[in-house]
Amino acid sequence: MSDLYTTLADLYDTVFDWDIESEADWIAERLGSGCRTVIEPGCGSGRMFAALERRGLAVTGIDVRGTNATVVLADMTDFDLGVFDGAVCPINTLGHLSHSELASHLEAMSRALAPGASYLVQLAVDAPVGEASRWEVERDEQHVRALWSVESRDADAGVEWHRSLFEVVAGHRAGEVHEEVHAMSFWTPETWGAVVDASPLEWTAVYDGTSPSRPRLDFTATGGLLWHELLRP
Ligand SMILES: C[S@@+](CC[C@H](N)C(=O)[O-])C[C@H]1O[C@@H](n2cnc3c(N)ncnc32)[C@H](O)[C@@H]1O
Repeated sequence: MSDLYTTLADLYDTVFDWDIESEADWIAERLGSGCRTVIEPGCGSGRMFAALERRGLAVTGIDVRGTNATVVLADMTDFDLGVFDGAVCPINTLGHLSHSELASHLEAMSRALAPGASYLVQLAVDAPVGEASRWEVERDEQHVRALWSVESRDADAGVEWHRSLFEVVAGHRAGEVHEEVHAMSFWTPETWGAVVDASPLEWTAVYDGTSPSRPRLDFTATGGLLWHELLRP
């Protein structure tokens, strides 16, 4: 497992602790007024999970790491925790799964969702190579500068390499600099569409996660922060 989720987990939680209130409103709205129970595979320390609970949803978060007492330790490619009204999986978490693991995950999700339920997945599809995102976050007296980019990819193998750089400007780890390159799955609109087509779920919409209004896009859209809506028929 990447150092980002072990020795660097507190820095990771800081740099991704940006304001998700409007995104959580949008997710709750898309899941629908009849949605009461939600599952979040790969919930990490529970950033989105907590935001959805503040909106009255009962969220079950699962992760392969025991990040806190409320997180259920389970592998998202094979679990059985009952049936939920909706599901969400933000910030490219599914990119950690290989192509065959993603197929197993979608099978597991179809068993975990009630008929008519939506699964909102934020997954990069053919994101630009070499374009770095840079941002800074201050939280709990910790101040971290972050850089993230897709450094290179092997399209035929369906793999790409992401570079992350965290510079700790203030806090108990001040002065630390951590640079890491880790492999993620590479998806195109065609390969992602094909794996969903082969699953029991249906791919019903794509939205632009970089815009506050999250407009609907064409199924051929590419980018690093796309939201995909899947339906359990
Ligand atoms: C990008 S983080 C996202 C955390 C959280 N969803 C958020 O929005 O902050 C990905 C998470 O997925 C978890 N993960 C990776 N592979 C997994 C698997 N096969 N089953 C369950 N969790 C997994 C990691 O431990 C990590 O916490």
